[in-house]
Amino acid sequence: MIPVNDSKSVQQNPDNATASPLAPEWLAVPADVNALHAPMWAEDVHRTGDGELAIDGVPVSELKAQFGSPLFVMSEGDFRARARSFKDAFDRAFEDICGGVDVYYAGKSFLCTAVASWVAEEGLRLDTCSGGELAVAARAGIDGGNLGLHGNNKSDAEINRALDMKLGRIVVDSLDELERVAKIASGRGETAKVMLRLTPGVHAHTHEFIATAHEDQKFGLSMAGDTTESAGLSAAEEAVAAATSYSNVELLGLHCHIGSQIFEPDGFALAAEKLLGFLAAMQAKYSIVLPELDLGGGYGIAYTPVDTPRPPAEIAQAMAAVVRSKCAELGITPPRISIEPGRAIVGPSTFTLYEVGTLKTVRVDAPAEAAGKENVTFPRRYVSVDGGMSDNARPVLYDADYSAILASRISDAAPQLSRVVGKHCESGDIVVRDVYLPEDVAAGDLLAVPGTGAYCWALSSNYNYLARPGVVAVRNGSARLIVRGETEEDLLNRDMGVANV
Ligand code: LLP
Repeated sequence: MIPVNDSKSVQQNPDNATASPLAPEWLAVPADVNALHAPMWAEDVHRTGDGELAIDGVPVSELKAQFGSPLFVMSEGDFRARARSFKDAFDRAFEDICGGVDVYYAGKSFLCTAVASWVAEEGLRLDTCSGGELAVAARAGIDGGNLGLHGNNKSDAEINRALDMKLGRIVVDSLDELERVAKIASGRGETAKVMLRLTPGVHAHTHEFIATAHEDQKFGLSMAGDTTESAGLSAAEEAVAAATSYSNVELLGLHCHIGSQIFEPDGFALAAEKLLGFLAAMQAKYSIVLPELDLGGGYGIAYTPVDTPRPPAEIAQAMAAVVRSKCAELGITPPRISIEPGRAIVGPSTFTLYEVGTLKTVRVDAPAEAAGKENVTFPRRYVSVDGGMSDNARPVLYDADYSAILASRISDAAPQLSRVVGKHCESGDIVVRDVYLPEDVAAGDLLAVPGTGAYCWALSSNYNYLARPGVVAVRNGSARLIVRGETEEDLLNRDMGVANV
């Protein structure tokens, strides 16, 4: 196990006298509770002259008045800029290696037709992983050649749809699926363009990655040599052999995705080395050319002030150096590289706007090390907002940390350790576990939680019959809904008892 970025264990402001003993070690008392920590926010989020938060010049009070809350607020300019910066940085780093890089935006992080169009307009392609995502891409008019389809359990209908849309690549996840794709393509008298998703045994867990020989998970084809019945052949090699034997399959190359929210390039580089070694061996053994290699997504973003994402150029250069030297060492022509970032493009472009409701302070036993004596309690303030785990499941699902700021005004009150919670019937319904907010936060104030563009709306639910929030895109000083929020009517629509009355 190689620790890569353990920044959360570093206390930023250990001498600060007002720090609550209940706060996690990594959370510093902010010097200015109204200040925006730039890496967590879209580039055009600022405070107006009178202190209110505004995005591309539109104040949050206007957004609230027009669209209600909770609300996902996305900067179109920021999204486009981040999409472009990935494409430019990787193109530049890989230009002399393979003529540039194909960047597939991972639609699972957030997708609607507007976003699919921006992606295409900025010169990116689109990675999908279900028939539903393909339907969005089709509605947005995305050329099938610029689409990829993932999934460990693609249905025959999804495979047929991919062939109907003449998809640029179907990323095959198993031997079983490979056979089905070949059969379906053969039945249609067509050829399916296929990549093989491999599991290189490099696994990234947030701040570190682990290299193991075997993978024990549902995705991909194992590269370990003893995982199939055929003596000595890995599942990955069996798939290469099978793919080259099917006349209705065009094997484009190999794919891997080592995990998500990764800060350091080491894991990507190691995976690239392993896949290139395998690619070279397969080319030699089966007398084939595998012209493409996809290194997946997973680039980390700042959810809190202690997260330190690397700029795309830095990651691209590190990955390019490895691809260049490994290909030279292996004596192979470098394959065309592609990547699949989702979170790093859409995550920071968006914040969620909530209205504060109930406030409650509880007394909590001091952590033993902080108390020094018995029976000491400290206050923790619970700030309830009008959404919660239905619009952001990540804290519940992954213990994910977020941050929050008072958005409707600035305050000169002292910072107070707070926990922002939702309105669901679930004690784990936490939006921001620990954050310092001004002491005078009150019902009716608006809070903004940054970095919610990825895997928040996408994972949203109707738990407790809450309507899922809308998504607003702001550009050049005007805001428009790109996904409207649900209404109670929407929620009742599918209830057959209601529909039949
Ligand atoms: N490519 C493949 C094959 C993937 O499975 C994923 C994410 C991506 C690309 C994009 O990864 P990104 O650049 O967005 O990290 N719900 C979890 C994340 C699940 C990621 C699934 N796959 C979360 O909210 O953290």
